[in-house]
Amino acid sequence: MKLKLLRGRILTFHHEPRNGDDDAAYTYIEDGALLIRDGIIQQVGTFETVSTMAPTALVTDHRPHLMLAGFIDAHIHFPQVQVIGSWGSQLLNWLNDYTFPQEALYADPDHSKNMASKFFDQLIAHGTTTAAAFCSVHKTSVDAFFKEAYTRGMRMLGGKVLMDRNAPEGLRDTPQSGYDDTKALIDTWHGTGRSGYVITPRFAITSSPAQMEMVQALASEYDECHIQTHLSENHDEIAYTAELYPKARDYLDIYHSYGLLSAKTLLGHSIHLKPREIDVLVATGAHPVFCPTSNLFLGSGLFDDAGLRAKGITNGIATDVGAGTSYSMLQTLNEGYKVLQLQGQSLHPLQAFHWATRGNACILGLEDKIGTLDVGTEADVIVLNSKSTGAMALRMDCATSLSEELFILQMMGDDRAITEVYVAGEPRKS
Ligand code: GUN
Ligand code: ZN
Repeated sequence: MKLKLLRGRILTFHHEPRNGDDDAAYTYIEDGALLIRDGIIQQVGTFETVSTMAPTALVTDHRPHLMLAGFIDAHIHFPQVQVIGSWGSQLLNWLNDYTFPQEALYADPDHSKNMASKFFDQLIAHGTTTAAAFCSVHKTSVDAFFKEAYTRGMRMLGGKVLMDRNAPEGLRDTPQSGYDDTKALIDTWHGTGRSGYVITPRFAITSSPAQMEMVQALASEYDECHIQTHLSENHDEIAYTAELYPKARDYLDIYHSYGLLSAKTLLGHSIHLKPREIDVLVATGAHPVFCPTSNLFLGSGLFDDAGLRAKGITNGIATDVGAGTSYSMLQTLNEGYKVLQLQGQSLHPLQAFHWATRGNACILGLEDKIGTLDVGTEADVIVLNSKSTGAMALRMDCATSLSEELFILQMMGDDRAITEVYVAGEPRKS
């Protein structure tokens, strides 16, 4: 296979920056190059060194732009592409009034296929090369999701939502059908191409105890799969959950008592946690996922990143489209910065860019494959233009450091800042 060489400024992370001065956390190369063969990064270094090693490689010159590992979105809803930006309600009404009617449409395979194509176009446009996605309750939506990922060669995670109650007709499975469909989907898709299946009980409100038992069985039969769900997003949700599971000590105790918590568990939102729940997160290694644009949009609350980190918990960050209001991980970091500012926490841009790349790869257990530009990893690479709008160009004229440039991208950037997206070494945006 032909060798490809991408030339540009390179930024890749080795560990989470402890602060803005933690130079050992990353490598930055002003005139850098990535050498790619068969979708895998073969070399990374200065252009001079790498081009000497591979004089016949086909060179694409992205200077003066910045090359970074593709963004990873740790929590997003595929069947909510046409829910995003729905006015006026908080979580439970938003689900009933806007979200469930839209998700019902995914029983139709043609609709699922059509929307999967549009959904992946949006991910690519915004520089997201991997996501952990909730599909609808229908098997058809999951097939459409993974088929599209497979065709595009993308590393994608996803699963059918399990929901057997508190949802309208046409959006409910049963404990048995949810189990059977999930099993069939895992057998078809887990490990096919770059796909990974995620066992996906939507949340405790929409799963009966009988369904939770089936989810427990799935989790122990397929312990190689991740589990994703929602936790403590909204006060009314928490109160209703407590009514439905009166014996549970708290919300997290429901998932814990069915054996669903481990380092492979992703817990969307995790805002209003009790001290006991935080202890259980520590003990099990499960990962909260911060969804800032969604939490502001639905008025859900402020995620306490520093408080959880202080206990040794590792958090993901995600868009949560369609309650989230942007596919852009840049915009997600922008709103994330503001949510943390409201609590006296200052997210440094080096930490922010680590979070949306290697950080999310770590919570997915995929840091040996994605999230960095390390040799031997998959060549999912984005090219960022820090002067992609007039306002950014004006501001950039006064920027004097890499951190300043990253912060401008974080606060002002969106899909226009994503010049190119490589998926396994193939250009997919331009
Ligand atoms: N809780 C259960 N389902 C959902 C969903 O689709 N979006 C959000 N934000 N929270 C949820
Ligand atoms: Zn969600």
